[in-house]
Amino acid sequence: MPPTPHVLVVDDDRAVRTSLRVNLRKAGYEVHLATSANKALEMLGDVPVDLILTDVAMPGMTGLELLAAVKEKHRDVRVVVMTGYGSVEDAVGAMKSGADDYIIKPVSRDELLVIVEKALAERALLAELRALRVKVQEQYGFENLIGCTPAMVEVYELIETVADTSALVLIQGPTGTGKELISQAIHYRSPRSDKPFVRVNCAALPDGLLESELFGHEKGAFTGAIRQHRGKFEQAHGGTLMLDEIGEIPATTQVKLLRVLESGEFTRVGGSSVTKVDTRVIAATNRDLRAEVDAGNFREDLYYRLNVFSIAVPKLADRKDDIPLLVEHFLKRFAERHGRNPELSADQKLLERLLGYHWPGNVRELQHVIERAVILSRGDTLQGVKLPEAPQGKEPAAEVLPEGMTLQAALLEYERRVLIEALKAAGGVQAQAARDLGISRSNLNYRIGRLDIRVKDIHYE
Ligand SMILES: Nc1ncnc2c1ncn2[C@@H]1O[C@H](COP(=O)(O)OP(=O)(O)OP(=O)(O)O)[C@@H](O)[C@H]1O
Ligand SMILES: [Mg+2]
Repeated sequence: MPPTPHVLVVDDDRAVRTSLRVNLRKAGYEVHLATSANKALEMLGDVPVDLILTDVAMPGMTGLELLAAVKEKHRDVRVVVMTGYGSVEDAVGAMKSGADDYIIKPVSRDELLVIVEKALAERALLAELRALRVKVQEQYGFENLIGCTPAMVEVYELIETVADTSALVLIQGPTGTGKELISQAIHYRSPRSDKPFVRVNCAALPDGLLESELFGHEKGAFTGAIRQHRGKFEQAHGGTLMLDEIGEIPATTQVKLLRVLESGEFTRVGGSSVTKVDTRVIAATNRDLRAEVDAGNFREDLYYRLNVFSIAVPKLADRKDDIPLLVEHFLKRFAERHGRNPELSADQKLLERLLGYHWPGNVRELQHVIERAVILSRGDTLQGVKLPEAPQGKEPAAEVLPEGMTLQAALLEYERRVLIEALKAAGGVQAQAARDLGISRSNLNYRIGRLDIRVKDIHYE
């Protein structure tokens, strides 16, 4: 049962007070009465009030002044003003000053109850929204980024430093290192936190579609554009837009992106008028953008524009001291989620194995390994942790998913071996390797970045 709502009636007319009290009580509300606005303000400190019904014209402080005071000091309290037929303009003024609704007196019982119920429902909704925001903040604040090695602490410091500005941020790091979490942490710690956080995966869409996804399009801009569409830049207005996999963005879109980053202005696809937005951009990539510029795949001017404030996230193998902490974090999270023993722990032997592995899929892979083991666990011991072998030369790929390995980890391993073999066979010439593999050069490049394949991996037997 939800608690009974408290309604405070403020009116200098005794007959009005009495009639409202009777009707509201019958409907199940707790009713308080005040004969003046001043008295009402005093009572707000003493009794829990959800909704105020106030007359406007009263001796002393008016209902509109009461409204202003309540909006300032008791933001959660709803206010409905009551006026007579002769002074409807008061009701208009009150609505403009933030009243939640108005009543023209005399009011029928049914109408009264509808208005009261509506005002209270909105209040409940607002409270829920606020609670939800707190939850979202907890989830995406720092608290969810685990790690205390100097490398991670540096990342936290950078997040902290840049969050309260609207500066562009470039986040670079291999797959699964938390680039998305970091973007969210920046957004939710910024003054934009109550505005939208919107993410676009630039690698997921072909050229034309990406442009319309980002900037929107006008009706009829191309076949299939049956109505006007607001792009992500507009959807994120006032908030933050995360351009994920920025390294995959095609050349034509790079030009348009540069313009919006410089001026905040763009035109929708097929449109002619200029749209201006206030959208903070965070770009992320698992490629080395500098190298992409040198290879002629990424515009240099765009690179400089993006690279004002950059955060480099280290791969997990370079901060192995964080592994025990991450393991503990994931154990707790997944034991709770899957209804397993909350005392689950990893013994020393297991930790050593985890520390010895090279983690090509980084934190994401570790997370999958732990989740699977938690599900398989019985009692308080962790079971089913099997790690893939480190890639070895020309060993043929396994045809069956190795026991204890997640599909994703297996695929990443397999892909890594295939790419390394192809690159070796092509003498390190990427264009040749891409042709042999039947994929585009940029696709190959993307995969090399994602798997963090280095020159030493190719020439090292
Ligand atoms: N430092 C961390 N602490 C806790 N969880 C993390 C951390 N880093 C990554 N994760 C988890 O690992 C998974 C992958 O993280 P995220 O999606 O942010 O990676 P990414 O860098 O964007 O990877 P990709 O380049 O493949 O998109 C997520 O489930 C995230 O919660
Ligand atoms: Mg990502």
